Amino acid sequence: MCGIVGYVGIGKVGSVLFDSVKKLEYRGYDSVGIATLSEGKIELRKDNGKIDDVDKKIHLGDVKGNLGIAHVRWATHGRPNKINSHPHTNNDDTIAIVHNGIIENYEELKTNLISKGYIFKSETDSEVIAHLLEKFINDGFDFQDSMIEMVKSLDGSYAIGAIYNNNPDEVLAIKNESPLVVGLSEDGNFIASDVPAFLKHTKKVIFPQDKELIILKKDKVIVKDLNGKILDKNIQTIEWNEKMAQKEGYNHFMLKEINQQPNVVVNTLKAKKDIENIVSNLNDINKIYFVACGTSYHAALTGKYLLEVFTNIKTDVIYSSEFKYFTNTLDENTLTIFVSQSGETADTLSAIKMSKVSRTLAIVNILGSSITREADNVIYTKAGPEIGVAATKTYLSQLVSIYLLVTYLSKNKNNKFYHEMISQIEKVPRYINDLLSDEDKIKEIAHKYKDTKEFFFLGRGFIYPTALEGALKLKEITYIHAEGYPSGELKHGPLALIDENVAVVVLAPNENSKSISNLDSYKDTINNMEEVKSRAAKIILLTSHENGKYNNVDDLFTMDNQVDELISPIVYVVPLQLLSYYISIYKGLDPDKPRNLAKCVTVK
Ligand code: M6R
Repeated sequence: MCGIVGYVGIGKVGSVLFDSVKKLEYRGYDSVGIATLSEGKIELRKDNGKIDDVDKKIHLGDVKGNLGIAHVRWATHGRPNKINSHPHTNNDDTIAIVHNGIIENYEELKTNLISKGYIFKSETDSEVIAHLLEKFINDGFDFQDSMIEMVKSLDGSYAIGAIYNNNPDEVLAIKNESPLVVGLSEDGNFIASDVPAFLKHTKKVIFPQDKELIILKKDKVIVKDLNGKILDKNIQTIEWNEKMAQKEGYNHFMLKEINQQPNVVVNTLKAKKDIENIVSNLNDINKIYFVACGTSYHAALTGKYLLEVFTNIKTDVIYSSEFKYFTNTLDENTLTIFVSQSGETADTLSAIKMSKVSRTLAIVNILGSSITREADNVIYTKAGPEIGVAATKTYLSQLVSIYLLVTYLSKNKNNKFYHEMISQIEKVPRYINDLLSDEDKIKEIAHKYKDTKEFFFLGRGFIYPTALEGALKLKEITYIHAEGYPSGELKHGPLALIDENVAVVVLAPNENSKSISNLDSYKDTINNMEEVKSRAAKIILLTSHENGKYNNVDDLFTMDNQVDELISPIVYVVPLQLLSYYISIYKGLDPDKPRNLAKCVTVK
């Protein structure tokens, strides 16, 4: 949802900014631009298109100067074209700004500024920021105070970086409900929407709070409150390194991130003790709400199945954007769990703010993100940076965190589950490594079905949310229409859509008679598979059942028969991720940058 960067330092400003903003391309790839201050003048280069294409035309990295700001755009207000690209400037090009977020009252502000003679060039909400800054400077405020006065007039979410030609040594920045982090390095200082932008230069960061003014200078960073008081900010060290935000020999980040999953599971398991501690204070919880969007919602839905089967805690899962209709039943014995990779999703952030009467827990990947600051407790999923827009390894890490959470919540209630669960999760990295080595089989299936126009994904019980996730991955990166359904539900309507042109992916985990899950879903799933087969659909069966009934299947992908129903969600999603990835490749698409999407959705 747009990425911003600002830099003041001794490095070559054009190339530092270009390199940094490229690291944020996953946040938006409609347009890109850089503005620097060079010999007292603002130098501006921007255009619509992906970063490398724009760079070929206008050589972004060659821009000169001693400080500057940069932006990648995911369009909200105004089409992706050159004029709507950031940075935006005031009328005499003395001020340049970049913005991530939405200015909700921009129309009112714009009308007012137009009536005062300010001339607007773009269709964006963001341009008001540049003119407002000029207005306050014209009113007699200095640049810093103009920033403070300006944000007092704004409603909405924003992370803003600004430069002014009469202020040649500083980049100013401020945020409200949009991500912004400060990076402190020997060679200069940064602001950015996300840490990978400056990981090459530093791991030392400050997480500013909303409405704190950041003054970025070459050799120091000052943070002030809106009354101008200097604040003492905590400097933290990020565990990530530069390599983690690079492709490391893979063709795409998505493929790298899929392949990292065995290690991610091991890493996420390190949070065991933290989760156990959090759970030790939750003995009086009698109801749980999970709140999340997209892939995180599917991880949460898996959590609901586990909690309902293995504990006596009533659990519900609500889309973050729908949460406001469900707040009446929250109380101090309710645990509300917010699942979010980024920790910045606007819908989830606004939901957590509505749930303060309950106890809140965030399951988040990004350190210091907004949702973590709102929650009573946080479980960090420790998946490392995920750059591909489609969530893969972070989904697995969310699942592992949720399994651990349920394990500890069930410890006293269902001791058998506790022991079986821990020993099974520990085997997951091996299962995933095995199936990653069988990647060629998935490639073959992907090639065969690359031109199929419609897919269904079926699963029952614990694996049903995985069917939803498989369908979401396919839609997102291949643009093929796909639906996930509980296997038993298809006959209640959607079966009418099934014919020989439809591919149906059936997820049929092994039933293990010794497992406490033993819900015996396999036979029912296979019966549902027969129902679609007799309507001529093409069947792709994913199973870990050793004596599976395979004769009616068009394509088969088998997994270790130890992968039983209980643990199947953490394993079965991996071949589904690969299936989507390779279909996307065979269709000639870029799986890392699907059309219309951005990694982090910071608008409601
Ligand atoms: O950062 P979050 O987990 O809160 O993001 C939620 C969704 O926007 C996200 O999962 C989205 O569905 C992904 N693109 C899925 O691959």
